[in-house]
Amino acid sequence: MKPIKVGLLGLGTVGTGVVRIVEGHQQDLESQTGAALEISRILVQDKNKSRSIAISPDKLTESPWEVIDNPEIDIVVEVMGGVDLAKQYILEALERGKHIVTANKDLMALHGQEILAKASEKGCDVFYEASVAGGIPIIRTLVEGFSSDRITKIMGIVNGTTNYILTKMSQEGAAYADVLKEAQELGYAEADPTSDVEGFDAARKMTILGTLGFHANVALSDVSVSGISQVSKEDIAYGKRLGYEVKLLGIAERQDDHISISVQPTMVKQSHPLASVNGVFNAVYVYGEAVGETMFYGPGAGEMPTATSIVADLVAVVRNLKLGINGKRGYTPYKEKKLKTDEQ
Ligand code: NDP
Ligand code: HSE
Repeated sequence: MKPIKVGLLGLGTVGTGVVRIVEGHQQDLESQTGAALEISRILVQDKNKSRSIAISPDKLTESPWEVIDNPEIDIVVEVMGGVDLAKQYILEALERGKHIVTANKDLMALHGQEILAKASEKGCDVFYEASVAGGIPIIRTLVEGFSSDRITKIMGIVNGTTNYILTKMSQEGAAYADVLKEAQELGYAEADPTSDVEGFDAARKMTILGTLGFHANVALSDVSVSGISQVSKEDIAYGKRLGYEVKLLGIAERQDDHISISVQPTMVKQSHPLASVNGVFNAVYVYGEAVGETMFYGPGAGEMPTATSIVADLVAVVRNLKLGINGKRGYTPYKEKKLKTDEQ
């Protein structure tokens, strides 16, 4: 098979990790897929910015068209973030028959159906494993691993930044603002960290998990949200004295045709496995009628864990290319079916 050319939209925290893994694991990737992956063009905002990775300057471009309208590029990886431009670029790339891998939960929670419909029309793959829980392959697990079961509950810690903040406040008595700054410096937080601390990022992820897990059309507006910005060190210390840890939990439950989804700071008993998920780690508990209780744990944000999920999606696209089944095996269980929410 000829080398598969990949274009990146973005070379920040996640994009840099993608370059490192594609270059560092080249032989392993090729032995799994039978094709070499080559990152040939990368969109950035500022070509002259100093980068933590050595990259040939002629690969960088400030024009999105050099990636999305480049006939040599087979797969576009969107790791620039934001909604409107990212959506426009992805739709344009799909229009040109390119497969998409994205880490963008904002986009998939809001416009997943439209993007997946366009992909299916064009016979293209759209994979988005990195959009939920960083390095934990939870999307693949829900869609493939639990395809035989009926999932009735998905609960977990799906935001690394807030878990990092709550852990440091609990274990070290650290000040909220200081730890938030640290999480930003470590590349965990969103460009606008309000999304993290007010629970919106977790709500977007729960929308995606609810949609995939319940095989239903879950909307972001179905999720009731409150974040951690009002949680004080005193609240955390008080909870600890009573045997609880404060965690930002996403909880999605389904009963018949009714769903209830929320994101909120929650007192979790110290004996519960979720109470000992610390730092940037995430954990997702899934209850299926047949399987019973399961839990998935791992790093929820950061350069290399997130890039692991992106590159696994690249491998999935290349495997589909080899079999000629792109657009047929993607994660497209978005259904017209709308479940009732608490307010209805
Ligand atoms: P960064 O802010 O670190 O990087 C964004 C990159 O995109 C930069 O290279 C930037 O260019 C480029 N970019 C942004 N806007 C534009 C634009 N309008 N035109 C051209 N280039 C642009 O983001 P992250 O890597 O942290 O996140 C990327 C995506 O991955 C987001 O959707 C995020 O939610 C998601 N994600 C992030 C995780 C993490 O741990 N950070 C984990 C899971 C998902 P330049 O470098 O020149 O500024
Ligand atoms: N800001 C997100 C988080 C990145 O902290 O979980 C991973 O999606």
